[in-house]
Amino acid sequence: MILLTGGAGYIGSHCVKRLMENGYEVVVLDNLSRGFRDAVLTPHFVEGNIGDRSILESIFSKYKIDAVMHFSAFACVGESVEQPAEYYENNVAQTLTLLTACKDFGVKNFIFSSTCATYGDVKKIPIDETTPIGPLNPYGHSKRMVELILQDFDTAYGLKHCIFRYFNAAGCDPEGMLSERHDPETHLIPIVLQVAKGQRENIKLFGTDYPTPDGTCIRDYIHVNDLSDAHILGLKNLLNGGQSDIFNLGSENGFSVREVIDICREVSGGEIPEVEVERRPGDAPKLVADSTKAKTILGWTPKSSNLKYIVETAWNSMS
Ligand code: UFG
Repeated sequence: MILLTGGAGYIGSHCVKRLMENGYEVVVLDNLSRGFRDAVLTPHFVEGNIGDRSILESIFSKYKIDAVMHFSAFACVGESVEQPAEYYENNVAQTLTLLTACKDFGVKNFIFSSTCATYGDVKKIPIDETTPIGPLNPYGHSKRMVELILQDFDTAYGLKHCIFRYFNAAGCDPEGMLSERHDPETHLIPIVLQVAKGQRENIKLFGTDYPTPDGTCIRDYIHVNDLSDAHILGLKNLLNGGQSDIFNLGSENGFSVREVIDICREVSGGEIPEVEVERRPGDAPKLVADSTKAKTILGWTPKSSNLKYIVETAWNSMS
């Protein structure tokens, strides 16, 4: 049995589906503060906080947990700057309670959702795992802190970890059972598609004077199903005795904000008015992954991360 936290959220719910399709049993722990009950596709669901020791004790007593996949976290950079206390409480303090329960109940494998925001001000593109660490905001700090805790728990207690640093998770279940639902939505592709649907008036381009060919930021969009597949490979690697490690997960292709909007126009056929506005604080001009390590060590091959396909699956999930 896999304990998966945050299984009612966007990436977690997709990973639950993928795990079940691959024959794994999954129990989801989620407090539904940002997730949705109807996105939990496993029959094993516990509503509660990852930092609730008594709930964790009852889960670890009831099920034989082979590994924990920890997705639940607050994940908005801007919000983290305004509310660092909430981010450190939810992402770090509660995760420490979860990790301590893993140690106490003899769980040996832990898969953690981290972020490319741990790298900070990047000088060299593409970004591989040797890129210097230096988060620029409390969200990135909170993820980095857990990475460090995991390293110490491995050394002291033998809790093995697989840390995944995601680039821009995007796209949805092609079968239409799951979607991307954030409230408020801050991510580029869903917002642009909401404009195409007429649910918003326009898309605001946050900065058009970046040192990139068309002046807008470049990002590496990776399909949630490819992220999920990496989790399954990371799980197998740990269960087969693999060592603790950190992997970047990206498509290795960069697209500017304007390019993303053009593909959204092509896929949706909708009119998508643009408005140029000021830069959003904290945005790096260009973030593109080097995922060689995940490909080499885990045998990961992203199969669904063509940007047009990503947008198509996101668009279909909205209709
Ligand atoms: N953007 C716009 N207009 C919008 C929304 C976004 O121009 O209305 C731009 C952003 O400025 C950025 C790009 O579109 O240049 C992508 O923005 P997203 O908010 O979709 O994604 P981010 O790259 O900011 O965030 C992602 C993850 C975070 C993670 C971060 C690391 O969603 O969880 O990468 O930098 F922390």
